[in-house]
Order: sequence, then C-alpha cells, then structure tokens
Amino acid sequence: MSVLEVIDTRRSVRKYKPEEIPEGDLKKILTAAQLAPSAGNRQPWRFVVVRDPERKRNLAEAARNQLWLADAGVIVAAIAMDPNDPEVYARWAERDVMTAVEHMVLSAWSLGYGTCWIGAFNQDKVKELLGIPEEMTVVNLLPIGVPNQTPEARPRKPLKELFHAEKYDSALDI
Ligand SMILES: Cc1cc2nc3c(=O)[nH]c(=O)nc-3n(C[C@H](O)[C@H](O)[C@H](O)COP(=O)(O)O)c2cc1C
Repeated sequence: MSVLEVIDTRRSVRKYKPEEIPEGDLKKILTAAQLAPSAGNRQPWRFVVVRDPERKRNLAEAARNQLWLADAGVIVAAIAMDPNDPEVYARWAERDVMTAVEHMVLSAWSLGYGTCWIGAFNQDKVKELLGIPEEMTVVNLLPIGVPNQTPEARPRKPLKELFHAEKYDSALDI
C-alpha cells in the first residue's frame, strides 16, 4: 500500500481478534516510532509495550473502561520524557510523541493491523500500573491488533473549510 492509500483507508478499530502480533511485524511498527521526526532530534519519547492479558485488562479499565482494548494483541503506552529543559519540553515533547504514535498507526495499518488513538485514560492509574516515573507524562495508549470489524469512514470537514489561500480571509479554490 502506498502512503496515500494507507492514509485514505485507515480507520480507528475498536474490535480486535484476540490474536498475538508476530514479533517481526511488531518490530517494524515500533521502528516506525523510532524513526519519527522530533524537535532538535531530541527523541523525547519512551514506550511501554504491554502484551500480558491481565495488564492489558487493567489498562483498559484505567482507560475509562474501554474494555475492548484488552483484545488487541498489544497496547503501547507512549510517554513524554522528563524535561531537561522545561521550556523546550513544554513546547515540543508531547507533540513529538504524538508524531511517533501516528507513525505507528500508519505503519500498523500498512501491515494489516488496526489501531485506535486512546486519549481517555487516568494518567495516575496508568503510571502506577506500568511503573512510569512521576515526572513523565503518558500521552497516549495505542492498541494494535488484528481488526475484527470494518469501520465506516467518519465524516471530515470539507477542504474549503480547512484551507485558506495566502491569508485567512480568502478561500483556497482547490
Ligand atoms: C488524541 C486522540 C485521542 C483519542 N481518544 C480516543 C479514545 O479514548 N477512545 C476512542 O474510542 N477513540 C479515541 N480517538 C479516536 C477518534 O475518535 C477517531 O480518530 C475519530 O473519531 C476519527 O475516526 P477515524 O480515526 O476512524 O478516522 C482519539 C483520537 C485522537 C487523535
């Protein structure tokens, strides 16, 4: 699949077959996160890869009881690291982590796996479950698994509402 095909066909998947992800495929997906761009190439991210069924269930409960998460082969917790420089951290670290997460989302889809960004979770509970140090921030939980549904495309705002030509007050005619 080309990058454009991946972007065009990707959907958030909220139903998974309870199957494991082969190590080789998982490594490709995690490597996509490693290769993401970051401000100043600081790579201010860490990831906890969760495969243990009970820990996945506990994470799902900490994610406002989105229990379907536990069926995904893997849940990856994406973490913004402790700031060495608070100003730079505040401005960039979480954005960088989100970029890395989207790299995983797109590469997983290209390999036939579904994902779903999960932003609704209890920060303290997730940190406790995964032993993440206090000063770090969990940015996202990402289930990765074999899809057990074919979700419809969700509506998007039209291009003309999103894009402006040269200045904000003129429409882009494209
Ligand atoms: C930052 C972020 C947080 C999200 N959190 C959740 C979540 O907690 N639970 C969920 O089911 N979907 C979550 N989503 C998925 C969105 O609902 C989904 O991307 C959106 O409805 C568009 O659908 P699509 O991804 O299939 O195109 C989140 C998406 C983003 C980008």
